[in-house]
Amino acid sequence: MDKFVISGGRPLSGTIEVSGAKNAALPAMAASLLSSGPVSLSGVPKLRDVETMKVLLRTLGVAAEGDGAMTLDASKPSGGDAPYDLVRTMRASILVLGPLLGRLGKARVSLPGGCAIGTRPIDIHLKGMEALGADVGIREGYVEASAGRLKGARIALDFPSVTATENIMMAAALAEGTTVITNAAREPEISDLASCLNAIGGEVAGAGSGTITVEGRKSLKGGTHKLVPDRLEAGSWLLLSAMTGGKLAVAGARREHLESLEASLGRAGVAVEEKGGNLAVSVTQKLRAADIVTQPYPGFPTDMQAQWMALMCLAEGTTVVRETIFENRFQHVPELIRMGADISVKGTTAVVRGTGKLEGAQVMVSDLRAGIALVLAALAAEGKSEIRRIYHLDRGYERLEHKLSSVGADIKRVPQDA
Ligand code: EPZ
Repeated sequence: MDKFVISGGRPLSGTIEVSGAKNAALPAMAASLLSSGPVSLSGVPKLRDVETMKVLLRTLGVAAEGDGAMTLDASKPSGGDAPYDLVRTMRASILVLGPLLGRLGKARVSLPGGCAIGTRPIDIHLKGMEALGADVGIREGYVEASAGRLKGARIALDFPSVTATENIMMAAALAEGTTVITNAAREPEISDLASCLNAIGGEVAGAGSGTITVEGRKSLKGGTHKLVPDRLEAGSWLLLSAMTGGKLAVAGARREHLESLEASLGRAGVAVEEKGGNLAVSVTQKLRAADIVTQPYPGFPTDMQAQWMALMCLAEGTTVVRETIFENRFQHVPELIRMGADISVKGTTAVVRGTGKLEGAQVMVSDLRAGIALVLAALAAEGKSEIRRIYHLDRGYERLEHKLSSVGADIKRVPQDA
């Protein structure tokens, strides 16, 4: 187990290149199960979760090779179980459910179990599979689903769940007839999956709107797809620049995926600029408190809530943060308080009283996005911080300490007991 040792309080400057999106890579990799011909993905980030998905796909008979540029060949899928030991380490393993049902007519996937940020049920996924004609049951902690050929249907989601939308899109790609998904998730990663499915022979329209139409095909032939850049990584670097008073250029991001964050930054007195294709921020005046409420895309992303709270610790005034997506996504709060923050939590609302500064401390990561918030806070804090359980960060941020060192951060990865 490693930890980060960070000496903060230094302005950071230089260019940080954004990697491909983890939350686009995982569904695109799972989609390879649908294809009779090889699928080549590029812009794949080298992350623990991507490695976990590779291992899972290999157990299901997919030849998965390469990093960055990856080839997945599911011409002879063996099917089989998505085992508990893999699924418990990565909830996104549930994304093999739809493709297995679509391609093989059967799937046995371990229930993911809860995680740090909430119970995270999968009822919307299972209702979607049933709507497409599958028999779905739960036995010994596993989802057991079977179907002849799935049949297209009109499916209204109770909530615009991201991975449930993705599972239904993928199952529908090989179903007989047309599927219409309403109240679908609208995240850019949904649109990216649609582009990937269309690139390998599928027919998906309307992704990015709340209504997605999928024309089922008999088979998908394979093809190539480049993943969308990671908007959550890009957003984290924009906040980092505002927090450290430096001049970071964020390369490879899509500004249109960050509109809600940009609007909130504007309310906090931080302007986003585009120069030579890169994004940067300028803090035109003292950082101001700016409330946020997390919402499904295009609203303020829950995956940026922890990072926003870290920024607001440095702002003048009181900020109200409302988390509406997950029931337990404030585990970064006690850690920020150890760094001198003044935050009180009531249910799913946090009130941040900006103190204008943070002090280095020993803190612990509970989940991926809480972790990056603590890294940002430590880089902005005066003094030294130690951040434990950074394996959570290795799931979602490629070459984190290398990217940060390259723009002047004093950050070292050392063994935990060093
Ligand atoms: C995706 O998770 C992301 N993961 C999450 O990112 C992200 O936080 C989340 O969407 C919300 O944007 C991937 O894309 C791999 P949801 P997902 O289904 O699909 C409830 C990260 O840090 N719900 O949109 O699991 C659920 O309880 C991760 O990269 C049901 O009730 O999220 C939650 O309250 C963390 N029943 C809400 O919907 C269901 O069947 C949002 O969940 C499914 C979800």
